[in-house]
Amino acid sequence: MDPQPLYLRLANHYRRAIQSGVLAPQQRMPSVRALVRTHRVSLSTALQACRQLEDDGLIEARPRSGYFVLPARKRSMPPVPEPDIRQTLGAAQYVGIHDRVSDFVAKCEAHPVSANFALAAATPDAYPAEALRQAMSRALRREPEVLVSRVPAQGHPALRAVLARRALENGINAVPDDVIVTHGCIEALNLALRAVARPGDTIAVESPTYFGLLQILESLGMRALEIPTSPQHGLSIEALDLAFQTHGNIRAVVTVPNFQNPLGCVMPDAEKARLVALCERQQVPLIEDDTYGALTDDDVPLAAAKSWDRTGNVIYCASMHKTLAPGMRLGWLLGGRWKARIAMLKFAQSRPNEPLAQIAVADFMGTRAYDRHLARLRRTLKAQREQTAEAIAAHFPAGTRLSLPRGGMLLWVELPHGRDGADVFEAALRQGIRVAPGAMFSNGPRYDHFLRISCGERHTPEAALALKTLGRIVEGRP
Ligand SMILES: Cc1ncc(COP(=O)(O)O)c(C=O)c1O
Repeated sequence: MDPQPLYLRLANHYRRAIQSGVLAPQQRMPSVRALVRTHRVSLSTALQACRQLEDDGLIEARPRSGYFVLPARKRSMPPVPEPDIRQTLGAAQYVGIHDRVSDFVAKCEAHPVSANFALAAATPDAYPAEALRQAMSRALRREPEVLVSRVPAQGHPALRAVLARRALENGINAVPDDVIVTHGCIEALNLALRAVARPGDTIAVESPTYFGLLQILESLGMRALEIPTSPQHGLSIEALDLAFQTHGNIRAVVTVPNFQNPLGCVMPDAEKARLVALCERQQVPLIEDDTYGALTDDDVPLAAAKSWDRTGNVIYCASMHKTLAPGMRLGWLLGGRWKARIAMLKFAQSRPNEPLAQIAVADFMGTRAYDRHLARLRRTLKAQREQTAEAIAAHFPAGTRLSLPRGGMLLWVELPHGRDGADVFEAALRQGIRVAPGAMFSNGPRYDHFLRISCGERHTPEAALALKTLGRIVEGRP
């Protein structure tokens, strides 16, 4: 027997017609009475089918005229649901993500790729390659001995000065001496965690969270306590507060308040202030990862949680990897109260970053050209995100849910009917399409029926076709 209720079968029948274009945008759907007659169903079944299509964002009701097919542009998907913040948190776990990530990377490398939706960075042509090349040449002309000279320990003074000045836009008051330049945000996070915690300690993280953070925790022998996180508003302060009461041994909190990876959510300012105050009250350091903050759709800069920090309890980590130059591997941090210890750890771990890239980036970031680049990148990512979301709405089966961030490049997609993200990942790879399976973003099985779809690549006709194929794979019709 078909397990699907009759109204869903009827809705799916018309959904396929809409998605294939047999029923064109703006075209009138058969009336409810016509559905009753044609398909020999009851009035309530026909009505339920229409409401399902309406809920799925495929058709709209017009007063006294019936239902009409929505243009793909206007179709929307229901949002990813809110987590249950009263869910029991369980014990903090030693992280076991390493094998899963290695398996993912090995499988990706074993298949040629024609459409890459797995990478959390934009395509090279979205970054200012020529301007950076010229800045590099200028730096070598002005400082011909730069490659054979000693490098200041915390990073090049010119870059530290520019970063302190730029941080004002995010509400942060820092002096250049506070800034430590790192090898990407990943080194900043490593140093921050090592400064405040030891092997065996419990670290509160968002759930779902960036798999790179889980890898760091695993490599440092620390335990992750996953805190429910809203796809709209970020880390739940209530759930974190509860975790402080029930798990007395939380040694640090790591959060991505702006365009969280993978959810894409932004924590409202009032919540950022509450989070900083809560961690301060609990005397637990807050490690803020602001990798994506500059990628907001409107050109109004987002506040960092660090801007509410009055006691140095927040360690702020950021990166130029997504915003300016993936190839330069530059990041930075403000160590707050732990500045001296972090400076020592950086020196012990990797010594200062090489200077040429720092001088070139300082040169570029000190001019209006950087603002123009950011404005362009934001517009590009917004357009690509919208096109990708529209394609998902048009081609993925009913029951799919989607986050719709206001910036960044990531979409978090819940698959319908418990469809397994790892199965979809593997079937997609066989067709040359890469996506990131939800299982990579947690230590447990909570997100096995999710995918993270990145919109960093150009939305070419090939990419559009790949999303259509992906929709068929999700539906089980590869
Ligand atoms: C939230 C988050 N933090 C840190 C990183 C790593 O940053 P970087 O490449 O600058 O080391 C990433 C990269 O994907 C990220 O998504």
